[in-house]
Amino acid sequence: CGLCAGRTQIVFGDGNPDAKILFVGEGPGEQEDLRGLPFVGRAGELLTQMIEKGMGLSRSEVYICNILKCRPPGNRNPEPGEIACCEPYLHKQIDILRPRIIVALGKFAAQWLLATQTPIGKLRGKFGRYRGIPTLATYHPAYLLRSPGQKRIVMDDLLRIKAILEGETEPPVEIYS
Ligand code: URA
Repeated sequence: CGLCAGRTQIVFGDGNPDAKILFVGEGPGEQEDLRGLPFVGRAGELLTQMIEKGMGLSRSEVYICNILKCRPPGNRNPEPGEIACCEPYLHKQIDILRPRIIVALGKFAAQWLLATQTPIGKLRGKFGRYRGIPTLATYHPAYLLRSPGQKRIVMDDLLRIKAILEGETEPPVEIYS
């Protein structure tokens, strides 16, 4: 797609190829574009903190990527044609990783992966499936930087996932498919 014209480099993904949890964001921002790694700016620092301090996992145990592998200019929202071009890479990534659970970070990833237009406020905390894998919608860490009062609820989402994985129980009934 046209995003290659403005990007510094592709930001493919980062983490453990055997990860049980896959975090999917929207697309690389400025820092990610410069460093070639997902979620390494301010929002990424918060996500890393929530994974490490909150969930008690190391960032290198999970896998983190985005729907778009190249930065949209000025961090604008991805366009449908750009996603259509990039989604096959996400599919292949997921097919190789086969995570137990996907966490869709923010409105854009949540609505896209769960194939719904439901507002993120309603989607948050709900499960669907993406490529057959249980997928939980939660708020984006960039939103949490603006609304720190919502951190607790996202932390609860992440701890719920940890409990599901540790208990080897199935996630709750899916609302979206
Ligand atoms: N926001 C995203 O959605 N992804 C990143 O990699 C960084 C910020």
